[in-house]
Amino acid sequence: MAALLEVNNLSVSFFTPNGEVRVLRNVSFSLRPGEILAVVGESGCGKTVLCKSILKLLPPDAKMMAGSIFINGRDITHCREREMRKLRGTAVSMVLQNPMAAMHPSIKIGAQIAEAVKAHHPEMKKPQLQERVAELMRMTGIDHPRERMKQYPHQFSGGMLQRAVLAAALACNPDILLADEPTTALDARIQAQILELLTDIQKKLGMAVVFVTHDLKAAAQIADRVAVMHQGEIRTTGAAAELFEKPLQIRTESKTKPEAELLLDIRHLSCVFPLTKKRRIKAVDDLSFQIYRGEIFGLVGESGCGKSTTARCIMNLHWPDAGSIFIKELIRATKRRIAATDVCCKKKGILFSGCRFQPGSAHENMRHYYGTDENMAYGTEKRVEACRGGISDACGRTG
Ligand SMILES: Nc1ncnc2c1ncn2[C@@H]1O[C@H](COP(=O)(O)OP(=O)(O)OP(=O)(O)O)[C@@H](O)[C@H]1O
Ligand SMILES: [Mg+2]
Repeated sequence: MAALLEVNNLSVSFFTPNGEVRVLRNVSFSLRPGEILAVVGESGCGKTVLCKSILKLLPPDAKMMAGSIFINGRDITHCREREMRKLRGTAVSMVLQNPMAAMHPSIKIGAQIAEAVKAHHPEMKKPQLQERVAELMRMTGIDHPRERMKQYPHQFSGGMLQRAVLAAALACNPDILLADEPTTALDARIQAQILELLTDIQKKLGMAVVFVTHDLKAAAQIADRVAVMHQGEIRTTGAAAELFEKPLQIRTESKTKPEAELLLDIRHLSCVFPLTKKRRIKAVDDLSFQIYRGEIFGLVGESGCGKSTTARCIMNLHWPDAGSIFIKELIRATKRRIAATDVCCKKKGILFSGCRFQPGSAHENMRHYYGTDENMAYGTEKRVEACRGGISDACGRTG
């Protein structure tokens, strides 16, 4: 199937008083009709700049240094502003990251949505326009649209405002919707509602969506494919199901010096937990990765994919069913469980997810965690002792 949107080797720089800053490096991806592509990445990795580049709405201090963009097979890389105005809203539309900033504070919501409709339908008369605005508001889940369209942005809640911004973006039935973090500022319940709304509308209108987020869970929930961005580059692209099935490794420094010391080497790690007498769950399945000195390593994946189990194995709090864990000079094998414990605790530190600190000292907190751990049976006290120095230091260092 021909791509609706194609971005090839896109590089964008900002020219600041301190010189050129390259924020997008050789970004390439394609979007097929009817597809939802999630672009995930940390704050500042270039997601918004990427969307603005596609719409050719980059600020004056930014420049597209290389690459090409095709929409519906048409090369828009060097399109003039007059041409782009025709494409914005119809071929490609964008939901901006901050709905409050996207709306003019002193213009009524209805008038702002109407503006988006009028941009491509200047012939529409007022009653027809109002009917279309009400229809768009209804479609995006805003109740009592006739009354609501007379309100100002400050009279809308964050979630409602996000719906209004979405209504404006959908005003002219775009082929492609660039949704830049449409749920980031919302609470979990409203977030879920907006995601559901987005997928419903996408199906109804047959749009293709680039869904920008740093929320992996949201990406896994709605996307067909996922592109992982890091520091201005797309590092991995793949089917959402594939990427989230296994923990995803993003090496922050592919430029890690080859001579850097190997600190942790995980080879073919597997952990299986019994679910019932007959059924077993593979928590970690044939996982391999290496971490070198000075490196920050991201182990990312959906809830339940085995991240914490991997961390527990590294800390020797859980014993793997297969594989090896090499920690500097120590190779841990199943028969050497207890012997490895002291070394592990002295050489590593771990921040546990969802571990709530209790009032009391750092030592008590460590005891609290280990006390709830299923591996308490073997050598727990010893482990707590061994960790004490390290935890006190860590608490001091992190304040
Ligand atoms: N107008 C600007 N002038 C200079 N640098 C800019 C400008 N706008 C963005 N940048 C830089 O471009 C890089 C990418 O920014 P961008 O807004 O695309 O990140 P993002 O991935 O959308 O982050 P977030 O998740 O926080 O929205 C950042 O380093 C940012 O500082
Ligand atoms: Mg952004």
